[in-house]
Amino acid sequence: MTREQLEGLSLPKHIGIIMDGNGRWAKKRGLERTEGHKAGADVFRKICNYGADIGIECMTFYAFSTENWRRPPKEVAAIMKLFRDYLKEANEREKENEQRGLQFHLIGEKKGLPADIVRNLDTLERDSADKKVMRVNLAINYGGRDEILHSVKALAGMAKRGEIKPDAITEEDIASHLFTAGQPDPDLIIRPSGEYRLSNFMIWQAAYSEFWFSDILWPDFTTDDLDRAILDYCSRQRRFGGV
Ligand code: FPP
Repeated sequence: MTREQLEGLSLPKHIGIIMDGNGRWAKKRGLERTEGHKAGADVFRKICNYGADIGIECMTFYAFSTENWRRPPKEVAAIMKLFRDYLKEANEREKENEQRGLQFHLIGEKKGLPADIVRNLDTLERDSADKKVMRVNLAINYGGRDEILHSVKALAGMAKRGEIKPDAITEEDIASHLFTAGQPDPDLIIRPSGEYRLSNFMIWQAAYSEFWFSDILWPDFTTDDLDRAILDYCSRQRRFGGV
């Protein structure tokens, strides 16, 4: 598989990835689950940079769901440390203008996340706001239902204040109060690790997304696998409900 095969194709503008299988990857090797997340974070770095290199406009990485707080505290703490390490590294590279033109956004609830992580995310969002190569959405403390609820509450507030008529609420109004307001919906959603479900990931935005599933565990996912998923996507015909 070579990158050249993608040349001339109409690539997906927005790719969402559910980074799954870290725990099983570690177990297979007799390692702690946290080692799987560490390996997964390295693959995140690689795939994110590669996406920018091949001209993807936006990538969303599902890193921590609103349900993941139910995991053992030690595992949650280890994942938070990976976020901390990455944010520190990204902020340092951003200062040196070495962050490859990546523009970062948190999609998820700040409330509930450790204060230092929120601070570092805010800094990265602010300092990378003018970057144009690729937008990176970090889905941390993210849940699709929670996001829709957020939007509904905002619209209900507007209705109560008389700023909007309930009957006149449109799909665009709902979309414009999601964390992804103003962004294109994901064209392609990738889920490795042999699971065939969305797990509360971008459930509003995924209405017309193409899906690509594979048995590969996330820490084994390579740039060749991303090429394969994109090539597969490019061979499909999207009809958006038409004929
Ligand atoms: C799901 O695999 C994975 C997670 C809940 C954590 C994902 C986090 C990372 C890959 C780290 C990301 C880091 C940065 C810097 C964004 P699982 O643990 O459910 O795997 P399993 O199904 O095999 O148990």
